[in-house]
Order: sequence, then C-alpha cells, then structure tokens
Amino acid sequence: MNMNTNTRIKNLIKLKSGMDTSTPGENYFLSVLNQRIKETNCANAENYLEKLLSDKVEIENLIDATAVPETWFFRDHTQLKGFVDYFKQKKLHSPDKKINILSLPCSSGEEPYSIAICLLESGATAKDFSIDAVDIRPDAIAKAESATYRKNSFRAKDCEDLFKKYFKQQGTSYVVNHSVTEHVHFKHVNMFDLKFSAHEQEYDFIFFRNLLIYFDTDTQARSLRLLHRKLTDTGILFTGPAESLVVTANLFNADSSYLYAFGKTSPEQQKALLKTHSKNVKKILHFNRPADKAEKLARPSKRIKPLNISKHQKHNRPDKDKKSSQINRIEEARKYANQGDLEAAIAMCHESLNHDKMIDEAYYILGVVNSSRNNLEESERYLRKAIYLNPEYYEALIQLAYIVETKGKIEEATRLKKRAKRIYET
Ligand SMILES: C[S@@+](CC[C@H](N)C(=O)[O-])C[C@H]1O[C@@H](n2cnc3c(N)ncnc32)[C@H](O)[C@@H]1O
Repeated sequence: MNMNTNTRIKNLIKLKSGMDTSTPGENYFLSVLNQRIKETNCANAENYLEKLLSDKVEIENLIDATAVPETWFFRDHTQLKGFVDYFKQKKLHSPDKKINILSLPCSSGEEPYSIAICLLESGATAKDFSIDAVDIRPDAIAKAESATYRKNSFRAKDCEDLFKKYFKQQGTSYVVNHSVTEHVHFKHVNMFDLKFSAHEQEYDFIFFRNLLIYFDTDTQARSLRLLHRKLTDTGILFTGPAESLVVTANLFNADSSYLYAFGKTSPEQQKALLKTHSKNVKKILHFNRPADKAEKLARPSKRIKPLNISKHQKHNRPDKDKKSSQINRIEEARKYANQGDLEAAIAMCHESLNHDKMIDEAYYILGVVNSSRNNLEESERYLRKAIYLNPEYYEALIQLAYIVETKGKIEEATRLKKRAKRIYET
C-alpha cells in the first residue's frame, strides 16, 4: 500500500471529522482501511481513495469505522456524583429553570442514560432537566435509540442496584426503562457541521468526554472554542481524565481538577457572578449535604478498602478507627480538590500519607492537582506511586499516559493506555 495514499486518506478523515487517526493507532487504522477496501470491492488503496473523493456516503462509512465508539454505563461514577452536586447548586439558584445538558459524543447512549439515571436518583423530574445527546456515527445513534444493551456495557463496579432499578432484562439483552429514555434526545451530528455549530442552543452542562484525545492540536482548540460558545456563562464542561491539560490551555478554567470539571471563568469569578445574581448565594456556595456526607464517610472509599492492607500490611493491620480517619482524610482531600482549594487538598493528602505511606488515592489526588497546576514532573512522580501501590488504578494510568505523552514519550503513553483498557476488558 502506497504511503502517500494512506496519508491522503488520513487527511481526508481529519478534514471531515477532525479525527487524528494516530490516536487509535496505526494498526487500528490499517485494519479499518483494509476492511473498507474489501467491502467496497476496490482493488487497492489508490482505487479506494478515488472512490472516497467522489462518494460522500463512503467517506462517512470510513469515518464511522475509524471513530472508536468504546463506552459503558457509569464510566466515571465519581464525576457523575460530582455533577449531581453542581446540578443541585444550579437548581437552588434557579428553581424554575429547566437545566439543559449536552452529551457530546454520546456514542451508543450509555453516557447520557447514566446522566439521566443519576439525576432521577437525586429526585429530579422531567421539568428539571433535558438531555441532548449527539454522535457522528449513525449506527451508534440507532443503538442508543433502541436503548438495548449487552453485558459489555455494564462494566462499572458497584452499580448493580442502579442496573436492577432502571433496566429490564430481555433474554440476553437489557433495556433501559422509559422513565429514563424519555429525558434523552438523540441526534446524528458531526460537531464540526455548520448546522450544529451555528445552532444557538446553549447548555448548562456539557459532557465532552473521550473525543478530544482523538483530535490534533488545532482541532482540539477549534472544538473547545465551539463548546465555549455553547456553554452558558456559569456552565460547566466535564471531560475525561486525559483531557484536562488541553482544556485549561484553551479558554477554560479548572473548577474542580478532581472531577475534570471546567468553567468559562475562574471559581472566584463564578462566585462573584452568582453573588450578583442571587441573594441566596451564601446557601449556594455553602451548599452542604450532611446526609450524603455521613453516608460517604460511613462507606469506605473504593480504593482504600483494597488499600492493599492485606498486601502491604499483613502484619500491621490498622484498627477500625485508624482506617476510618484515613477514609475521612481522603474524603476531605477529595472535597477540597472538588472545590478548587488545591492547597488544602495537597495538605490533606500529605497528612494522610504521614499516617500511612500506602494510600494510593492520596498519591493520585496529588498527581491530579499537580497536573492541573502544570507541575508535570511532580504529577508524574505521584501518579507512578499510585500505580505502584495499585497497578489496576484506571484513572491514574490514563492521567499518567497523558502526561508522558505531553512529554513526548509516545510509546510509554500507548502502553499505559492499553494497560488501562485491559482493566475494563477483563
Ligand atoms: C470513545 S467514544 C466516547 C463516548 C462517551 N463520551 C464516553 O466517554 O464514554 C468517542 C465517540 O466520538 C464520536 N465522534 C468522533 N468524531 C466526532 C465528531 N466530529 N462529532 C461527533 N462525534 C464524534 C465517535 O463516533 C465515538 O462514538
């Protein structure tokens, strides 16, 4: 296959969709390309390129096949819980406003349905919110509309109760209840199409997860300019763990580095903005959920539990009190990080590590907070420690992959991403 032809095909994909085919990897791209050449009965890549240049449908087929649709329900449950807090704050501020949410890209629908379920669980009803969900792949949108899923979409741990409550089993498939689907409106959209970008609809929350990594630098900047226009002034943009550095380099400010949540303005400006809007501001900024907090503290953190107490401390198992103080410290650190109080988050992580050097989540939070401050060396050091203590720490692997990639270590980044992917595949 001629190298030049391949490059021209890749450039066509980039021009039409913004996707950089090097992110899913050369082998993935070649297997997709060979498959399309075979299915269109073309003799070789040159013939196929000719077809692409004259056949609008085939370029769409190729983009569809290249776009990686990988997704699952409650992919980042921590972020979704944080989102619900943001949602409640907004509702306190404007009780009668319908909150508009965008899931872009939504792939086969697992993400927007997860958002709807979390909101329903928090007590929200139809008058409170509406979700638009878009993706470039028509087959993904068709699957999303069918609301029917197989086991592979249910990889998140600790969500069995939600699965039981909001899905009905039909043979080997699971169908999302109507009480959820009625809140989500799907559309087949290329985010760079004028029809979408020029549309005036603004959103209070945008989930823009796991697409930015497939774009080259220019397209990343272009997509973030577009989302900046689509987000309301006090809106929040949520991304995936690997994308935070790109977002803060392009128009947005981290509102919570731990939740990968970004605003158009700094948290201080946001507060000022809210103050001018409402007398209720004190309530909003100090919005507290004692019941939730108590529940959180009572429930051991997912990562502290396996904190390798048995692995690393077989002969020195901490007693219950010691363990729950550590849980409290990590919860506090997380809370500070969520609120944007990075100094306090760092201090709390160090306090936790002073008591026990084996807390993987303390290293992870230090890694995330340092990366949001652009201290990449420090961030890398902490993330490596988190992964050393917990080799299956998905978020830490992804965050570290992005940092080493930024430093030009592409091979290591690819290895880390593959390792992270395997965690969910096993
Ligand atoms: C890895 S999935 C992410 C799904 C979901 N947000 C998540 O995090 O689980 C990436 C999706 O991006 C979609 N996509 C790629 N380019 C796009 C574009 N220009 N406009 C809209 N969607 C696009 C693909 O079709 C694919 O379904």
